[in-house]
Amino acid sequence: MNIGVLVSGRGTNLQAIIDASKDGKIKSRVVVVISNKRDAYALLRAEKEGIPAFFLSSKNKTPEEYDKEIIGIFENYKVDLVVLAGYLKILSGVLIEKYKDRIINIHPALLPSFGGKGFYGENVHRAVLDAGCRVSGCTVHFVRLEIDKGPIIVQKCVEVLDNDTPETLAERILPHEHQALVEAIKIIEEGRYKIEGMRVKRI
Ligand code: GRF
Repeated sequence: MNIGVLVSGRGTNLQAIIDASKDGKIKSRVVVVISNKRDAYALLRAEKEGIPAFFLSSKNKTPEEYDKEIIGIFENYKVDLVVLAGYLKILSGVLIEKYKDRIINIHPALLPSFGGKGFYGENVHRAVLDAGCRVSGCTVHFVRLEIDKGPIIVQKCVEVLDNDTPETLAERILPHEHQALVEAIKIIEEGRYKIEGMRVKRI
């Protein structure tokens, strides 16, 4: 599969996909990267790997207009699977419909808890700690219109420690995100699944 990755930040999840494909852990490869932030380090990572990388400004554009531009680029690069890897802009229905069941997202908590509007970055981990959870983790899921809701492909658990801060918890969850994302891509590229409602069953 040709993967198109949407990013907003440092891009360690993007790097994990690129590395897995170089190491032969997955057959798919990242063919294009698009960021809604000009200074996203993820863009530099892509360039270093020789992968076309674009900054798309959302200024004076409706979410639909913006997503149509993304679709234009993805069509040029024949993208089959879209990965949201730390992408902090909400998708419009235009993009979600175009790549139905072909867009996945990585979230740094165990959904359906600690997801939805406002649950991004450190906010997620702070909320997990404030709620007194003994475990957290990460979730890779298919994207639906509702934020952070969609059939779950892979989850990983991470223990919460007594002296955890949002930063330390985020740091311990991150490598699990990288692993979960690669596992999810492998499941999809091998077609070893079927979606039944909110469940993704292995076949
Ligand atoms: C990750 O924690 C991801 O789960 C969240 O944003 C962060 C992005 O990290 N959605 P990176 O840009 O992939 O390093």
